[in-house]
Amino acid sequence: MTPTLISTIGPAGAGKTTWRTRHTPPRAVVVSLDETRAALAPCGCSSNQTVNAAAVAAGYATTRQVLADGGTVVWDVTGYLPRFRTELLDLAAEFGARTVGLVILPPLLTALARNGSRDPRRCPDCGYARRVPDHVVWRMHHDIATAVPHLHREGWHELRFLALPPYLHTRQHRPEEN
Ligand SMILES: Nc1ncnc2c1ncn2[C@@H]1O[C@H](COP(=O)(O)OP(=O)(O)OP(=O)(O)O)[C@@H](O)[C@H]1O
Ligand SMILES: [Mg+2]
Ligand SMILES: [Zn+2]
Repeated sequence: MTPTLISTIGPAGAGKTTWRTRHTPPRAVVVSLDETRAALAPCGCSSNQTVNAAAVAAGYATTRQVLADGGTVVWDVTGYLPRFRTELLDLAAEFGARTVGLVILPPLLTALARNGSRDPRRCPDCGYARRVPDHVVWRMHHDIATAVPHLHREGWHELRFLALPPYLHTRQHRPEEN
């Protein structure tokens, strides 16, 4: 079996978790930084950034194990930082894994509205809320939108564009052509 790494690329509120709960292949192992942070944080918050590095390290360890066994790992992650995507691709390459990037980039206002419907209250222990500040959603959205035309040069074996704002529906990047 060819080891496979699938990773979402989408801002907060994009619909990444919704996608993976519906479409994760049978027997694939999910790495969710939200769920790992919630498990590691003493306060139980999925947004607790103080345990983020530990959550990423745990995700890498899981990924190594799954890929070494020839399995499929699905990362439910924003993936908006080029450096983070490069690290994932390098890790996959160590195991000769096939890599699939799933771009989930609805219009900015959609992501903001979905994020806006989440609980804005800050945890008294870690200070983070489930709702991400609007400017963070905007930044993630901007960074991914800017990266879209270049993603095919990052080294993914396959890129799927599951949602894109209308202004990015160019000939090369129509979702139905990918
Ligand atoms: N295709 C869709 N159409 C309508 N609503 C959707 C769609 N996908 C997701 N949603 C809704 O949008 C909200 C956010 O979705 P989801 O939790 O999957 O986002 P996310 O990308 O995982 O966000 P985060 O990065 O904050 O975890 C949820 O309330 C979900 O029901
Ligand atoms: Mg999510
Ligand atoms: Zn907390």
